[in-house]
Amino acid sequence: MAKTTIIRIFDTTLRDGEQSPGASMNIDEKLRIAKQLEKLNVDVIEAGFPIASQGDFEAVRKIAQTIKGPDIAGLCRAQLKDIDRGWEALQYAGERGRIHTFIATSDIHMKYKLKMKPAEVLDAAVKAVKRAKSYTSNVEFSCEDAVRSNLKFMAEVVGSVIDAGATVVNIPDTVGYTIPFEYYNIIRYLKENVANIDDAIISVHCHNDLGLAVANSISAIQAGAEQVECTINGIGERAGNCSLEEFVMILKTRSDILNFKTNIVTEQLTPASRLLSTVTGIHVQPNKAIVGANAFAHEAGIHQHGMLMDKSTYEIMTPESVGLKNNILVLGKHSGRHAFKNRLQELGYEIDDEILNKAFIRFKALADLKKEIFDEDLDAIVADETYKGDEKYKLSHITVTCGSFAVATATVQMEIDDHPVRTAELGDGPVDATMKAIEKLSKTKAKLQQYTVGSITGGTDAIGEVTVRLTEGTNTVIGRGSSTDIIEASAKAYINALNRLHSKKERYSESV
Ligand code: KIV
Ligand code: ZN
Repeated sequence: MAKTTIIRIFDTTLRDGEQSPGASMNIDEKLRIAKQLEKLNVDVIEAGFPIASQGDFEAVRKIAQTIKGPDIAGLCRAQLKDIDRGWEALQYAGERGRIHTFIATSDIHMKYKLKMKPAEVLDAAVKAVKRAKSYTSNVEFSCEDAVRSNLKFMAEVVGSVIDAGATVVNIPDTVGYTIPFEYYNIIRYLKENVANIDDAIISVHCHNDLGLAVANSISAIQAGAEQVECTINGIGERAGNCSLEEFVMILKTRSDILNFKTNIVTEQLTPASRLLSTVTGIHVQPNKAIVGANAFAHEAGIHQHGMLMDKSTYEIMTPESVGLKNNILVLGKHSGRHAFKNRLQELGYEIDDEILNKAFIRFKALADLKKEIFDEDLDAIVADETYKGDEKYKLSHITVTCGSFAVATATVQMEIDDHPVRTAELGDGPVDATMKAIEKLSKTKAKLQQYTVGSITGGTDAIGEVTVRLTEGTNTVIGRGSSTDIIEASAKAYINALNRLHSKKERYSESV
């Protein structure tokens, strides 16, 4: 029987994933995600781009200092100053600290973006790898836009960086352009034409612009790649990256014909997915494979009938195998803190006692209003109490008057940098009046691009959840707020977005 190949999972949720519009995370949020990635047992966590900003640097350093199992990678351009700065943050992970350096090898990128000749790119790549090697033996090199590169030139670069000491060579489909058959051939070409290719692991990194990131990654491992770069929920630049949960579950579910394994603890996939949604405010669509709300829901009568006879009729993997548990918290208003904490832990949340106390008070208040508390309600409570980021703006009170005959008026009191401020505004409905009052008090220049409201669970007593998208210049953020009162949820979402925008601007004030 053929030997099973272990595919290394390189998770880039905290780097490429963070490049998703609106997905920016602060240091604590990144650390929380990194802890969940550790539980998932990924092989590598790409923690950020250390030279990009002081915030990114601190996040990489903190993760390198805290996380014990996986390797910790930091992205660095093929420039000596990037690599020096990268290692400053990564050194705390010791041998697990991986310098990931890259430069583009496609004609389009070399000519228009880098304005460099191929020979100069080759030289920069080798120098970067040698510099990285002076710090650590754990060095990855990426040929950015590999798929649109001249194969002969790329083979030369790959051979040279392996000679210089790269232990992993990554062949990214940076623009999500390739298709499985073509990608397979590119990996085979390198296997067959680079003399020292077996001295390094081939990695692949696929973007999802044509919806093929997962399929292309599968094709690449069939051609000999042994590391796959992916993100939770498939978040990432533009249309995102290869979705970690989809890739991993394909290997597990089709082990009958795919002779590969990963080290992932698949029962941690659902907690990882919901934690990321809670932290970023970016929900997965209901029909998303593996982690979407409908992924294990059987609607048609004929399907339900088959499922009752034997689950294998319509179920190719079990909900339990991806960590999906019965989602009704069978606790009511008389439930204790212990049971509440247990449920949060089952959902993948580890929160300190101070936050737990606040969340528990919210839970109790909600249990007074609602008969059943669902996991989604808990996500909303945790999101509200935990992942607030820097709180420049705080909501104190709102009062609205409205009705079919009244002009909607909102009186909002906030604290800005701990100073109380208050105003009243008229609006086209109570939400509009509330948002105008907050806009006036905060003096924000950001544009409210999107406002969506939904109920987290069923029933008129459900928690309402509001998501807003704010843009100022090149910065986009998503804010989320929840409450059984939809006006309050709207105000919280707007204020949450303002806080995220403020901390994003501070973090990136020293960008490359
Ligand atoms: O998409 C890409 O090419 C990247 C590299 C920096 C690995 O993200
Ligand atoms: Zn990428």
